Amino acid sequence: MSEIRPIDWCDEFNIGVPEIDIQHRRLVQLFNDTLQWMGATSNLAGWENLVFDFLGYALYHFHSEEALANRYGYGQEQPSRALSHHGEHEAFMAHVKETQASLKSGKDVTKLDILSFIHDWLVNHIAHDDMPLGTYIRTKRGAELRH
Ligand SMILES: [Fe+2]
Ligand SMILES: [Fe+2]
Repeated sequence: MSEIRPIDWCDEFNIGVPEIDIQHRRLVQLFNDTLQWMGATSNLAGWENLVFDFLGYALYHFHSEEALANRYGYGQEQPSRALSHHGEHEAFMAHVKETQASLKSGKDVTKLDILSFIHDWLVNHIAHDDMPLGTYIRTKRGAELRH
């Protein structure tokens, strides 16, 4: 597994919304745990459970992130960003479900395929999709404090 390295949490991942940053840390931790586990064994029997755990937490995270976005009117004020943010979450879930189906039907899915997808998706999504949402919510919260 030398091709994929654990994700080192750094300040650049913080979007400035504490409840979301905590969840992102947890997602990164789950990814790193999975990476470590997969690197330590050649037994693929636990794959489905690992993917399922990650999927469950990711789903919870996407829901809470979008609920928070809705509470601050993201969809009304920045419709194209809100739509693409939601679309990215949907695409992630669709890809993971497809992978689960492939694993079930015995198709050739490698550790590298799955882990590199999750790695790249997480890092890119936080930087490019969650960050603008963070800026938006921070601005809204700042305005609330001034009233
Ligand atoms: Fe997101
Ligand atoms: Fe997120």
